[in-house]
Amino acid sequence: MRIDIIAAVPELLDSTLHHSMMKRAQDKGLLEIHTHDLRKYGIGNYRQIDDYPYGGGAGMVMKVEPIFECIEELQKERTYDEVIYMTPDGTVFDQKTANQLSLQKNLIILCGHYKGVDQRVRDQLITREISIGDYVLSGGELAAAVVVDAIGRLLPGVLNDECSALEDSFQDNLLAPPVYTRPAQFRGMHVPEVLLSGHDARIREWREEKAWEITRRKRPDLL
Ligand code: ADE
Repeated sequence: MRIDIIAAVPELLDSTLHHSMMKRAQDKGLLEIHTHDLRKYGIGNYRQIDDYPYGGGAGMVMKVEPIFECIEELQKERTYDEVIYMTPDGTVFDQKTANQLSLQKNLIILCGHYKGVDQRVRDQLITREISIGDYVLSGGELAAAVVVDAIGRLLPGVLNDECSALEDSFQDNLLAPPVYTRPAQFRGMHVPEVLLSGHDARIREWREEKAWEITRRKRPDLL
């Protein structure tokens, strides 16, 4: 899978998407991430990418020309399945969307900044608008990093144990059950006996029961 991310501050992405599991995905050739500095397409000597809003009001608006130029240049090279815009007024991101997007081949993600992008970009170029939650970040870069991480770890071969993504919280609308590792006893706290039993069917049953219990307690809205 290839993901092209267009950003006003690409440095924010480089520091998050080239470590740990995303690095492994890229090293294995399963994921290509290309970041594009929007300023390269900026206008004039100052490489301007934003301007005052028509009609007045506070804040700046991301200009239409640099974004069109950048996206059209990418689209000349290959076909993109989706052109995603990161914005707090988009559809709230969830595991189902991550699963869907992980099946695509080529994605563009545009990171918003300031008061957002000129509406003509949204009308003409954007196929999906994503928010990572009901709060406003100073830019879409961190939100894009969240989305890329959630998608990237689902690509076949990225996780060591291919089954483990299926056991994540949210994959079946349940939160994940508790996990433990050695030692079996710590300061009088014991690992549940069933997990030490080696009895696969009982362990599976215990985990499912716990997943339901935790979901009912913490996130009844998921049920
Ligand atoms: N840009 C600013 N805030 C955002 C959010 N919550 N989700 C996605 N993009 C954003």
